Amino acid sequence: MPTTSIHGTPDYAELDALGLDPAEVIYFSSNINPYGPPPSVVEAVQDAISRSFLARYPDSRSQRLREKIGAYHGLPPNAVLVGNGTADLIWLLAHAYGNQRQAAILSPTFSEYADGVIMAGGHPNHLILPGWQRISGNNRASFEQRRIQQFAPGRTTLDHTRQALESAAPWLVFICNPNNPTGEYLSPGALRYLWEGASGALWIVDEAYAEFTEDPWSAAQWVMDRGWIVLRSMTKDFALGGLRLGYLLADPSIIERLQAVQPPWSVNGVAQLAGLAAMDEMTWREETTARLRKEVWNLQEGLRACGYAPLPTTVNYFLVPVGNAQSLRDRLMPSRLFVRDCASFGLPEHIRIAARPPHENARFLEAIARLSADNAPHLEQRHIQ
Ligand SMILES: Cc1ncc(COP(=O)(O)O)c(C=O)c1O
Repeated sequence: MPTTSIHGTPDYAELDALGLDPAEVIYFSSNINPYGPPPSVVEAVQDAISRSFLARYPDSRSQRLREKIGAYHGLPPNAVLVGNGTADLIWLLAHAYGNQRQAAILSPTFSEYADGVIMAGGHPNHLILPGWQRISGNNRASFEQRRIQQFAPGRTTLDHTRQALESAAPWLVFICNPNNPTGEYLSPGALRYLWEGASGALWIVDEAYAEFTEDPWSAAQWVMDRGWIVLRSMTKDFALGGLRLGYLLADPSIIERLQAVQPPWSVNGVAQLAGLAAMDEMTWREETTARLRKEVWNLQEGLRACGYAPLPTTVNYFLVPVGNAQSLRDRLMPSRLFVRDCASFGLPEHIRIAARPPHENARFLEAIARLSADNAPHLEQRHIQ
């Protein structure tokens, strides 16, 4: 049973075992906006917190926040559901719609879709995203790695993915756009083309990272007429990971069904307040994500100078083929620099790196250059493409 998903977020037990203070570590492993949260959000929370605020139950329907989010996306409040992070909503969706059903999951991708579906008694079917292929495990792989399907850059085209959707005829489709961990971003035309291959399915589009791209767009436009479900996280672009906040856009009939199974008060009062303040900070979000796109470019240049071949991306994170991802992760840890070993995505030869402010990126590149110089053997496994 896949109850132990691995994430790029801090593993507090591991940090304790290493004697590391979580605040001292630089997390290139988490795809979070390192410039956030916006100062106004921190102030709003600090100003509001009082004994009575903490003691009072929050609005179990997050009504004010639903109104503000709905207005932003041009949808009525009853087309919005707020959750304790998007992960909470993914599991809610899987439980409401996944039992005994086949869910197509466009892969390699975020593991919570498959985990949620399996825990709900459904059947995940990993279909391949354009630009990737499925490969068999290799002898170096541990049992756990072999249990997870493995992928590599490959020749799957949009047509192949559409054909796979047509023959699978799934009940549910999960697609992450832009995708985590690979960073590709399908255009509205490409996504519509895929949908035509399985238009009878319930499509769930996870847009957790859309606002990190240069040209964000949202499938929210297809929520009402095509019955799509769109997920958006506020823990990434607004950096509210510690508070937990995400939302879902869908036809009001879908929202009602989900509300019936959502635990009451699952979004706390502080998170609701922070969300309301964050929705006024779209300019801050545009400015900081533009800075991060520059930092992605600089980081990739620095890695190429060390002989690596980072994969192209549209977002604040990207993949780097390194040979043995776990080994590189472990060798960077003593420098308090965490990268994401992508074995749990089925990519054991890749690490994922999220851009940070310039001085932290410089520390990372220095450490990589030092490791490359000190320890030549791992270099032979680099995949220069
Ligand atoms: C694609 C994707 N969706 C959803 C989530 C979960 O986000 P949240 O923090 O809002 O639960 C993540 C977190 O890593 C993610 O990568």
